[in-house]
Amino acid sequence: MAERKPLISGNWKMHHNHFEAIQMVQSLSYQLNADDYNVCDVSVHPPFTDLRSIQTVLESDHIPISLGAQHCHQEEKGAYTGEVSAGMLQKLNVKLVIVGHSERREIFGESNAQINSKVKAIFKHGMTPILCVGETIEEREEGEAETKVRTQLEEGLQDIGRERIGAMVVAYEPIWAIGTGATATPEDAQNMCAHVRESIKSIAGNGSAETIRIQYGGSVKPVNAAELMNQRDIDGALVGGAALEAESFARIIQYRLH
Ligand code: 13P
Repeated sequence: MAERKPLISGNWKMHHNHFEAIQMVQSLSYQLNADDYNVCDVSVHPPFTDLRSIQTVLESDHIPISLGAQHCHQEEKGAYTGEVSAGMLQKLNVKLVIVGHSERREIFGESNAQINSKVKAIFKHGMTPILCVGETIEEREEGEAETKVRTQLEEGLQDIGRERIGAMVVAYEPIWAIGTGATATPEDAQNMCAHVRESIKSIAGNGSAETIRIQYGGSVKPVNAAELMNQRDIDGALVGGAALEAESFARIIQYRLH
């Protein structure tokens, strides 16, 4: 079985101006040590306005945390007021871009086809997509969760090469667990992450399914991180609220010690 290094990512959403962001990253780096980075990859995904400041802090202090973004537009350039392209993110040394977060899908109406174009744009610029998938509580109760996730993967990954799929990240985030404090049980999270891996196997083959990293997201906290991370098909976490403060995010990254 392939060794998959865990990836723990902090999605700050629309929190922290660039002053607060600098403080947070400096404080986080004081709390992490070389051992932590050896066993676990870490990324932070601040708002666009913070990216340049955080890039400078990470690079000048040689902090091995990857810079991430929360979103990008699929086109290279053009009359898209308010949008930011994948090429612009690459110039800031962004390594990972979250795509298809449920808040983008629900609040901003992003479709699987648009998300597929964004995944392609992110790869084109040498970055790694973190493709988010997940079901609503109604879909879960009606037994449609697996089909929903399968469709999001099939449509979101259409015409993407196997090798690229094997190198990317999928984040399973049940919508009912996001920001609610209602974490999925480790068993439910494991079952759905196993379903994601099975789906990847049929989309892109066994090799890609073995190497792709699958994160769980939805009310991950220091108290539940270890149990979730110890599941066979869970290779990391996409953390919202608990990634806003250095101490709680560091404790999640150091889940193996707690
Ligand atoms: P919470 O950790 O606040 O539930 O947010 C999860 C999330 O949406 C991360 O992308």
